[in-house]
Amino acid sequence: MSQFHAIDVADYYDSETFSKIKAFADSKPTPFVVIDTNIISKQYDDMVGAFPQADVFYAVKANPAKEILSLLRDKGANFDIASIYELDMVMDIGVTPDRVSYGNTIKKRQDVREFYKRGVRMFASDSEPDLRMIAEEAPGARVYVRILTEGTETADWPLSRKFGCQNEMAYELLVLAKELGLEPYGISFHVGSQQRDIGAWDAAIAKVKMIFDRLRDEHGIVLQMINMGGGFPANYIDPTNSLQTYADQILRFLVEDFGEELPRIVLEPGRSLISNAGVLVSEVVLISRKSNTALERWVFTDVGKFSGLIETMDEAIKFPIFTEKQGELDRCVIAGPTCDSADIMYEQYAYGLPNDLEIGDRMYWLTTGAYTTTYSAVCFNGFPPLQAYYL
Ligand SMILES: Cc1ncc(COP(=O)(O)O)c(C=O)c1O
Repeated sequence: MSQFHAIDVADYYDSETFSKIKAFADSKPTPFVVIDTNIISKQYDDMVGAFPQADVFYAVKANPAKEILSLLRDKGANFDIASIYELDMVMDIGVTPDRVSYGNTIKKRQDVREFYKRGVRMFASDSEPDLRMIAEEAPGARVYVRILTEGTETADWPLSRKFGCQNEMAYELLVLAKELGLEPYGISFHVGSQQRDIGAWDAAIAKVKMIFDRLRDEHGIVLQMINMGGGFPANYIDPTNSLQTYADQILRFLVEDFGEELPRIVLEPGRSLISNAGVLVSEVVLISRKSNTALERWVFTDVGKFSGLIETMDEAIKFPIFTEKQGELDRCVIAGPTCDSADIMYEQYAYGLPNDLEIGDRMYWLTTGAYTTTYSAVCFNGFPPLQAYYL
């Protein structure tokens, strides 16, 4: 029996959906990603259904396509925005500023000024210089402070120490926020994207609770909101619990710490709303071996790290890859088309592809709706950015 994990499309898409995507794809030259917005609509409904007590702020960075933003606007979503350019995108389609949170802790003064001018009143921060700048450029605005969280080991795409600050500092920043005339509004965290350990939320919520209590007891500051970020799962090769299990557990953690009277709960899902909706279609350009006796084939395809698959960096995200060939699965290295030797998607992780795979065959990279289109380089080696179609 093969040691490799065969991908069964039925584990990812119902047959009608995949047939629709494939029929559309058959008429297009590769590479491209097809995104079925019906799936996004359903994922959004599932998220709202699983967390009825939460407000969803879609993390626009996951995929800012107008088709997706308009769909989520119409479904009543709010938006987590990382830059002035993302603000333009949502405001251009009529999203009002009360539905926007400026969630990036790294921002230019002129951008904060512009967000404020356009009516945005909710800002994230994790440092004193940034907080002081917000107080000057966005007087009276709501601020929430992002804390550092554990969980990087168990997240497939960890956000590491780049964002957030230690608890003590978060506490001090919220006290300072009040002194500066801002509204100390809440605490945020992100336990790491594609977080497979639900316990990561437990640890983070416990930290949040301590800050809430100290601020109330020592300064009379009553925080209103917990922003639990993203981290919810998409369907890749490694299994995860269902979204409902995440929701049940996280709600239990919240109630254990905060009781039945919860503060406002904000979620910022990106990956979990969008990824499952996308199928990236590529073509095999070359199959070769590095010696006459090498057991391992190198499969080069017309997408790579520089055309949307950057999350294969360190082989972090393991996308399910489907081909129509039926042969036995053999060990392969899978690499992209550019002249950069970093452009190898999977070398350590033993991917098996059918031994009758041939040059010209198509590869279907499932679960590629998020963090693919915008990560694609504009002209590396002359290759154009990844084409995207929205159904
Ligand atoms: C502040 C913030 N919120 C939400 C997200 C979305 O996270 P995910 O894609 O895991 O849902 C990110 C991702 O980087 C983020 O930085």
